[in-house]
Amino acid sequence: MEDWKKYQELGLDLYRKGKFEESIDAYKKSLELNEDLESYKFIGNSLMVLGRNEDAVVEYKKCIEISENWYFYKALGWALLGSNRLKEAENAYRKSLCLHQEHESYLGLGLTLNNLSRYEEAINAYRMSLGLQEGWRAYQELGLTLNSLSRYIEARDMFSKSLSIIESNKEKETVNTSFVKVGLSKSLEGMQLFEEALKVFFDASDPDEKEWDCIHSIGRKLVNNSNYDLAIRYFSLATKRYTNIYETEAALVWAIIKSGRSSEYQNYISNLVISEKWDLIDFYLNGINHDIDHIYDKESARYMMYKLNKVKCLNSRDAVRYAAINEISLKDGLIMEFGVHKGDSIRLIANSLTNQVIHGFDSFYGLPEDYVSFYRKGAFSTEGNLPLVPSNVQLHQGWFNKTLPLFLKNNKVKYSSLIHIDCDLYSSTKTVLSLLNNTIVPGSIIIFDEYFNGVGWKENEFKAFQEYVEEYGVTYEYIFYSRIRASNVVVRITDKK
Ligand SMILES: C[S@@+](CC[C@H](N)C(=O)[O-])C[C@H]1O[C@@H](n2cnc3c(N)ncnc32)[C@H](O)[C@@H]1O
Repeated sequence: MEDWKKYQELGLDLYRKGKFEESIDAYKKSLELNEDLESYKFIGNSLMVLGRNEDAVVEYKKCIEISENWYFYKALGWALLGSNRLKEAENAYRKSLCLHQEHESYLGLGLTLNNLSRYEEAINAYRMSLGLQEGWRAYQELGLTLNSLSRYIEARDMFSKSLSIIESNKEKETVNTSFVKVGLSKSLEGMQLFEEALKVFFDASDPDEKEWDCIHSIGRKLVNNSNYDLAIRYFSLATKRYTNIYETEAALVWAIIKSGRSSEYQNYISNLVISEKWDLIDFYLNGINHDIDHIYDKESARYMMYKLNKVKCLNSRDAVRYAAINEISLKDGLIMEFGVHKGDSIRLIANSLTNQVIHGFDSFYGLPEDYVSFYRKGAFSTEGNLPLVPSNVQLHQGWFNKTLPLFLKNNKVKYSSLIHIDCDLYSSTKTVLSLLNNTIVPGSIIIFDEYFNGVGWKENEFKAFQEYVEEYGVTYEYIFYSRIRASNVVVRITDKK
């Protein structure tokens, strides 16, 4: 047998054994001797398993150069979807479907369209997939999209079908039904069938921890409907399952107190007093401006208690933005937003300050790096398209470290009146604050959109600002924050060394 074929055989053997790095090496050696489609394909497949989607894109494109086959377009679609290159993924799936109507390509297309917020088209794609071949995954994804559109009854039916396919399936053992069950539980919650929702939720063997939002949302509705028995039972179960989520215990105590049955639970409550969790519970019970569902973690609760207790807490993100605009005292300074995306917040600012120019900075290709697990590199990309904005907005497209120095060089105004930072990341916030340092003066107002009380808060905008004030000897005061998760806050610079 020729040597390149031997390397291919070795590559396949290693691939089947799950030794993906070694398999790639073997196929690469084969390619040095002879260019062959199979080698590119298996290198691509290994890269996909290793999560190296961008590299897999390159390999599948080579396959397509050699043979325009539907299968390679589909594989390319998955790789592009994994890289968050959504428009390209859509094109790849559509090309695949032109060549061959196949259910997985429709599923991938549905996922892509869903990520592009084109929900009705996504629903059609999932239905096409199911028309070609019924599958638990397509039903599940359809259910998720319907849930997000609050079409709970249809969503419930889709999740139920997904579960019944898994049940009757040979692969039953290998499929994790938790995700489907959590989806179903949310549909039932949407239908106000709380008891059933809870049953399904707790039947899910291993729901992701981030689903704990679901616990609070159902539990809170139960308490508000005075269904205390169920709420207490529910939160008790939740505390056993999510032992590391402090809020659940706090929520349980809250339900107990609201039910007026604290004496029955006296022992339980006093046990918590000696545990670390008490300060959070204390916080809920004293009800400083917040309700149970607005607290992300213990540290946020502490921050609110000790650093923000005199600061005005408003009901929504937009209320905080309007309040900040009203606080502007430095006239004719720069008004800037970092992180424009589809333009929601910049429109609000521009429509409130119609006589001034608002400068909006964004790559319009999304985040330059991963932020939190559900907002990866490329999240919020509009594929370079600029949003529609009022005429007093000037958009500056590109990465902040390129556009901002140029802007500052060409601009005569030397101080900032209002800076809206909505770029999520530590690195981006740090870049903006350092570059703007000379323009940040006593009286400058800065709004941070994801400052604290949400996933990853200590590592991002909060951290960048704390480092900035330390490094440049800046003093500031908080003037507003919002009563929501991932609270936005407004600071006013009071002094500088
Ligand atoms: C959460 S979105 C902004 C949301 C927007 N303010 C709104 O109201 O919908 C974050 C934006 O920051 C942008 N971004 C983050 N870091 C950046 C950087 N270093 N350079 C340019 N844009 C960046 C992303 O492209 C993304 O559009």
